[in-house]
Amino acid sequence: MDYVILLVLLGYYLFIESSAPRKPGDNAVIQSQSIPVNNAYCFIFWYNMHGQNVGTLNISRLIQGDRGKSVLWTKTGDQGNTWRQGAVDVGNGLFGPFTLFVEADVGSGYQGDIAVDDFRLDPFPCKIEPPVNGSYDCQDASHTMIPRTQVCNFKRDCTNARDESDCGMKCILLTFKNHLKGFA
Ligand SMILES: *[C@@H]1O[C@H](CO)[C@@H](O)[C@H](O)[C@H]1NC(C)=O
Ligand SMILES: *[C@@H]1O[C@H](CO)[C@@H](O)[C@H](O)[C@H]1NC(C)=O
Repeated sequence: MDYVILLVLLGYYLFIESSAPRKPGDNAVIQSQSIPVNNAYCFIFWYNMHGQNVGTLNISRLIQGDRGKSVLWTKTGDQGNTWRQGAVDVGNGLFGPFTLFVEADVGSGYQGDIAVDDFRLDPFPCKIEPPVNGSYDCQDASHTMIPRTQVCNFKRDCTNARDESDCGMKCILLTFKNHLKGFA
């Protein structure tokens, strides 16, 4: 498959396997469509990097007109046998559209799988203020309550972003093109 369409919160799953015929140094890269620069954005994803030969996972950004992309988020090596959430601010203070890349490499052996899943691009910054009591239920695991004045204020106050998810703001549907071998 050449194109992977990743819907917000859809159960798509990218995986780079370190078993043969892959070799150490092989990379897998997926590239998003061009994203207009109307907002601060938070790029949220889940990753699993487990095994003694795990390589590097990078989230990079190429701003239109720039010569090279820059790495905004990176992890190398074993991060434990669990799925972890990553979040990175990707739209702050930019003047041109940009493209996001998810890049992973294969570690130096056969226990180096990297998996990424559940991409989301929220049109507000990643930073979450400490929860304040209120009457709006985030409907997260701990039923965090925030004041109603913090709903639709362009700031994420619920960890699951429920407070900003139905405000007439257009979510960006991330469309990644799988342009290198690797992700399946
Ligand atoms: C990740 O970023 C680092 C620093 O720019 C770079 O050296 C490395 O090759 C990148 N790895 C992948 C898999 O893209
Ligand atoms: C917020 O709610 C928690 C749990 O119900 C309570 O323990 C705490 O005192 C409250 N804080 C404020 C500032 O009202």
